[in-house]
Amino acid sequence: MIDVLAISGSLRAASKNTALLEAAVRVAPQGMRVRRFRGLGSFPLFNPDTEFPTPPPVADFIAQIAAADALLIASPEYAHGVTGVMKNALDWVVSSPAFIDKPVALVNASPRATIAYGALRETLVTMSARMIEGGCVTIAVPPMARDAEGVLAVPDLVVALRSALAEIQRATQ
Ligand SMILES: Cc1cc2nc3c(=O)[nH]c(=O)nc-3n(C[C@H](O)[C@H](O)[C@H](O)COP(=O)(O)O)c2cc1C
Repeated sequence: MIDVLAISGSLRAASKNTALLEAAVRVAPQGMRVRRFRGLGSFPLFNPDTEFPTPPPVADFIAQIAAADALLIASPEYAHGVTGVMKNALDWVVSSPAFIDKPVALVNASPRATIAYGALRETLVTMSARMIEGGCVTIAVPPMARDAEGVLAVPDLVVALRSALAEIQRATQ
């Protein structure tokens, strides 16, 4: 069973990025389990002076990344940058080996959000993640699709999502 950890960089309830990941949980192919990590909002702000001992929610995050066969990440753009929530979470992981050679599919829920997408990709590559090129795609979630049901109601989105998951499957076999 391929274990995929899905991480959203948005905390808001009606998040397109989270909706995409929730839909991925529902359309995962046979032999793959997609599970969401929901704890990013409880992480303290990263400070190298207080990095150790690792706070329990962060330790849980690092353990779940290490245990996963691949990561599926979706995160919005705020003022042409990566959200603080996502960047804070990644900063906590920089000094651990959890990301080294970890297959990562980075999906973008908004075609306008190219600057943050590029910056996030750069950070992931810098952390030695192994980007799954075929799984790094923009899947434009329309305004009305604000939850998994909304995403699953749009056939094109389901096709794109299934294709990204198939790429993860290929990359991890
Ligand atoms: C503080 C803030 C800044 C934003 N800045 C940008 C931006 O620079 N570029 C962009 O394309 N969208 C921007 N947006 C729009 C968000 O990308 C959009 O609302 C997106 O749906 C948020 O992702 P989510 O639905 O997963 O929460 C911004 C939204 C907020 C709240």
